[in-house]
Amino acid sequence: MAVRRVLRMGEPLLREVAAPVTRFDAELASLIADMDDTMRAQSGAGLAAPQIGVGLRVVIFELKENPRYPHVSPVPYTVLVNPQLTPLGAEQEEGWEGCLSVPGMRGLVPRYRRLRYQGSDAAGAPIDRTVEGFHARVVQHEVDHLDGILYPQRVRDLRNFGFEDALAGQMTPMPD
Ligand code: NI
Repeated sequence: MAVRRVLRMGEPLLREVAAPVTRFDAELASLIADMDDTMRAQSGAGLAAPQIGVGLRVVIFELKENPRYPHVSPVPYTVLVNPQLTPLGAEQEEGWEGCLSVPGMRGLVPRYRRLRYQGSDAAGAPIDRTVEGFHARVVQHEVDHLDGILYPQRVRDLRNFGFEDALAGQMTPMPD
């Protein structure tokens, strides 16, 4: 297990489509352990394998109860392999996002409010959940990484994209 370097926007692997996982083996377990260590070391709410340089369809996310974010419901620690998203309804809502691959920045991003996600856990067992709000947002953000998309590409109005410290007081705070 190790804290790995997080790739930053501009590095080519972040723009590539990641490959499906075909084997739930020790190598996958080791990748997930490194992702856990890296996400926690950076206090992130989620991480996708390409962010540590591995082009596989694996994401992790977790949001613990945090008094700094009283309006955000906790999200259980989840490993999601080969995810498939199905939006439920057309309703989208905008929220401020950050990303460990775009350090120091925040942007206002529209996401589907409710969705169903399916995939496998670290051992290959099926996951099938229907979620909304921040939980739905973090899944959409992480799965975008697997398709080579970073959140700034989703910002509708670039006036709502900038440095976190410069934006202070203008946005509803959202964790990475
Ligand atoms: Ni990200």
